[in-house]
Amino acid sequence: MSTVVINGTQWGDEGKGKIVDYLAAQADTVVRFQGGSNAGHTVCLDGEEYKLRLMPSGILCKDTTCVIANGVVFDPQVFLEEIDALKNRGVDVSNIKISNRAHVVMPWHKIFDELNENLRGDKKIGTTKRGIGPCYIDKADRIGIRICDLIDREEFAAKCREVLDQKNFILQKAYNHEPLNYDEILAEYEGYAERIAPYVCDTISFLNDEIDAGKKILFEGAQATMLDIDYGTYPYVTASHPISGGVAVGAGVAPKKIDKIIGVVKAYCTRVGEGPFPTEQLNEIGDKLRTAGHEFGTVTGRPRRTGWLDACVVKYAGQISGVDYMAVTRLDILDGFDEIKMCVAYEVDGKIINEIPASLKILAKVKPVYETFDGWKVNISNVRKYEDLPVNARKYLERMAAVTKIDVGIISVGPNRDQTIIVAKDIF
Ligand code: GDP
Ligand code: IMO
Ligand code: MG
Repeated sequence: MSTVVINGTQWGDEGKGKIVDYLAAQADTVVRFQGGSNAGHTVCLDGEEYKLRLMPSGILCKDTTCVIANGVVFDPQVFLEEIDALKNRGVDVSNIKISNRAHVVMPWHKIFDELNENLRGDKKIGTTKRGIGPCYIDKADRIGIRICDLIDREEFAAKCREVLDQKNFILQKAYNHEPLNYDEILAEYEGYAERIAPYVCDTISFLNDEIDAGKKILFEGAQATMLDIDYGTYPYVTASHPISGGVAVGAGVAPKKIDKIIGVVKAYCTRVGEGPFPTEQLNEIGDKLRTAGHEFGTVTGRPRRTGWLDACVVKYAGQISGVDYMAVTRLDILDGFDEIKMCVAYEVDGKIINEIPASLKILAKVKPVYETFDGWKVNISNVRKYEDLPVNARKYLERMAAVTKIDVGIISVGPNRDQTIIVAKDIF
């Protein structure tokens, strides 16, 4: 097998960065294919913590090429900050490729993100305010600026003028906001263009050539199924497709060329931002999960909402993405719990339903049906073999696999690379 997709199955922050970093050691190339700097992927290596936003989580593996593909919305400022920070920490950043078709996050995208959130008032989405939604809106509106435009001085000057005139009109007339300065933006972005130009190429031909040559490629999803613009809890979602199908659109790699799909599942559940969360625990259990798991957002520092594992959501993610194996992360965070619950079905108006309701009104009425498991009450962070896990932890994992109909392929018992139990031997 040579192409593997890693997808989040819940509401993000499942530990995708950790799993990607682990598997990247066996890969030739790691590819981000959607989202942008709204992602915060943490990799822990040799006692150091790296928080990655646009950079693929393969960057800490020497000899691995990192690709930012066309489906990503690319913020050059964030990218260059990341490059500089990584270089300062001695990380080799020479092996990076950026798609000439990726769309560029411009200053007005971040401003509109903020203004639109303010306008929504108590209906706000709780976005990361990184300009992600507005950048994808402009892409669909066909007024986006792409990397190939950014690195062409004349083209960029013309496009920036044209789009900025339109944006300033809206900013002033609709939002009563001061206009943005063309010369300042031009100068800032020309500086970025010069620095990123050496990394830019046609990543579609690069990736397809790599696949033809039998190279091993890992596709790193950001966000997760329940934040997908079609399949998530719309409108409380992000603006891209964080599912396995997103790879075809976001990287130009055909579905038939994808060999394996891994769904990353946090052993309990968290969500940042607004929107439905059926298993949320607004009580001392939720507080205990947040404290034990240090559940605060990587990008925004916001406290994450916490709750029990929702196996219905994971099963749904499995169907949409065709997940072959679950990578269950943060199992160690449950070490201190006397009992652990898992939602195995949804009940609406006294009836069990076999779907994730599209309507937020109905989703708000859903009553999770819980099964209760005895905790294992021992520290599992040093376990490296499945059979060495406490029997109660194995029972929990086995039930998860039965309800979701997805086998457990990887178990993570700590943030570090070596705190990983490999169950499936055929991932790559
Ligand atoms: P991502 O966005 O899906 O990459 O996840 P984040 O990096 O936002 O959040 C996951 C957090 O959990 C990070 O701080 C990781 O270092 C950490 N982490 C990942 N796997 C494990 C694990 O198995 N156990 C523990 N304790 N921490 C983990
Ligand atoms: P990773 O890749 C968790 C959430 C935001 C908000 C919604 C829309 O680290 O798992 P956006 O800025 O994308 O328009 O915000 O999506 N969100 C995330 N939540 N992890 C993420 O990324 C997220 N990226 C966006 O909190 O609710
Ligand atoms: Mg994250």
